[in-house]
Amino acid sequence: MFRSHTCNQLNKDNVGEEVILSGWIHRRRDHGDLIFLDLRDRYGFTQIVADPSHNESAHKIAEELRSEFVVMVKGTVRARPDGMQNKNIDSGEVEVILNEIEILNRSKTPPFEIDVATDPNEEIRLKYRYLDLRRERMKNNIIFRHKFIKRLRDHMDGLGFVEIETPMLMKGTPEGSREFIVPSRLYEGKFYVLPQSPQQLKQMLMVAGMDKYFQIARCFRDEDQRGDRQPEFTQMDLEMSFVEEEDVISTNEHVIRELIEELSPEKEIMFKPFKRITWHEAMSKYGSDKPDLRFGMEINDVSDLVSQSEFKVFTDAIKNGGVVKCLRVEGGSKFSRKEIDEFTEIAKIYGAKGLAYITLSETEGVKSPIAKFFSEDQISEILKNCGAETGDIVFFAADKFDVACNALGNVRLACADKFNLRDKNKLALLWVTDFPMFEYSEEEAKLVATHHPFTAPKDSDVALLDSDPVKALAKAYDIVMNGSEIGGGSIRIHSPVVQRKIFEVLGIEESEIDRRFGHMIEAFQFGAPPHGGIAWGLDRIIMLLRDEANIREVIAFPKDSRAKDLLTGAPSPLPEATLKEMNIKSIA
Ligand code: AMO
Ligand code: AMP
Repeated sequence: MFRSHTCNQLNKDNVGEEVILSGWIHRRRDHGDLIFLDLRDRYGFTQIVADPSHNESAHKIAEELRSEFVVMVKGTVRARPDGMQNKNIDSGEVEVILNEIEILNRSKTPPFEIDVATDPNEEIRLKYRYLDLRRERMKNNIIFRHKFIKRLRDHMDGLGFVEIETPMLMKGTPEGSREFIVPSRLYEGKFYVLPQSPQQLKQMLMVAGMDKYFQIARCFRDEDQRGDRQPEFTQMDLEMSFVEEEDVISTNEHVIRELIEELSPEKEIMFKPFKRITWHEAMSKYGSDKPDLRFGMEINDVSDLVSQSEFKVFTDAIKNGGVVKCLRVEGGSKFSRKEIDEFTEIAKIYGAKGLAYITLSETEGVKSPIAKFFSEDQISEILKNCGAETGDIVFFAADKFDVACNALGNVRLACADKFNLRDKNKLALLWVTDFPMFEYSEEEAKLVATHHPFTAPKDSDVALLDSDPVKALAKAYDIVMNGSEIGGGSIRIHSPVVQRKIFEVLGIEESEIDRRFGHMIEAFQFGAPPHGGIAWGLDRIIMLLRDEANIREVIAFPKDSRAKDLLTGAPSPLPEATLKEMNIKSIA
């Protein structure tokens, strides 16, 4: 037997008992004669005392111990002397006086200390992930993840959803990003792809009459990495039949709210029910389709007010069909020149050509490099329009709607960071609705689906698919938490005719439609029920609930920022013979 108890179990009730514990040496403190060992396992810590006057041979072995050695100890539980209790650990009232100890395994000196809270370099952490996961914070993140998913499954089951696995080896699911490709050994020149999501198959399950499906689903996307993206990630994927937008939204809102209230009670959900905002309102007021609503700081439109000014940058933008947007930042008049330059750089990253501003300082009144282009009346009208007061700064961006909004939206976030307005203990949850069906992709020089091509248009906008598809709105919705898109979904098209129409608008040729989506169109001809669904980005949700800035912190074995697995060394070359068997010729 390796243990009678785990390291968090012992308390005053156990005093006098002979116990066996196994675990890792977290810390060893040599106090001359006495050696104190903090023994650690997944559950907690227990202090072990090696006293040579009590047991000399055990004390001798204890002298040999180093960090992360694995040991089995036998000893007697005793109460710690008054004033020596440790309130921070569960077993802090007691300690175990060592009778016997066996070293089960030794450890090399770890490349970083397990018992300190500060993060070592990430490359080392990922290479030695099994050591990194021994650290308290990481362990707790992974256990939280387990609990979250477990309770999520309970909730879904309670609501009548059935969890169904869908395959990893698939035909391509076109959802916008590049796919990981798996060559087929049996069929030369043919490929499977790893699914970007179970989208098409969950729709097939609705055609199959499954009514309410969900899955904790692994998804694969070969796209550039960011803090909230991984090449493989996990969704809570869900689909329901005979539903409208409202049904999907309310079901999901109920589940996510219950989960957060149960598992993250320290967080304050700001909007109950969650706020609803249309895509257009989100873009124009907050410059983002995933606005952070933990704070206000709205963007205003001053196109009308500045159209008669002398400032060509503004008037030209308006003449070219653009807008002039402004952002009032309370208390921003104290920003230094350098800070304003930093905000300008941010605006430029998001495509703005510049960032004009007016400050309203207590000592100097209105100050602005563009003041000379405006009459005093015009300036006071503008300031009034955006509610600016002494002490504030107002930033301006003149450009196409999307660019002006997006640039100011990012300046808005940077200003919020300056003033610490992004409180981690608050959760601003909202639904963004009424997305456009299509957006123009500069890269591909054509229209692409904003969500994905299986998304239904609003009933009132079906005719626009022919006349003006860019204006058509979709039955699509995203769920946003603290400025992060934590889920997205839509009501789907269930008519083969409308589905074909969408592919046409997307410029996919007839033969291509049949080749790529023939199975979908065919399935829809066998009595597809009206259906819709959503997928949550589970990693992102857990990241936010754990106050982590990167989703790698809540994934046991993530890829690094360049999609490498530093622990095993993937991706790696394969032997020539393997490639040959797979009909692959390497040209690298
Ligand atoms: P979508 O592509 O919006 O929708 O994905 C749903 C959610 O998954 C998360 N997510 C990611 N998380 C980590 N790393 C990534 N690379 C990554 N990409 C997306 C986001 C996102 O909101 N099939 C549709 C859903 C549907 O229509 O039902 C889909 O996959 O939080
Ligand atoms: P300039 O006349 O180019 O020196 O610009 C005067 C001010 O207007 C500077 O603060 C610029 O950053 C700003 N500016 C330039 N282009 C734009 C634009 N498209 N929108 C908002 N401000 C701009």
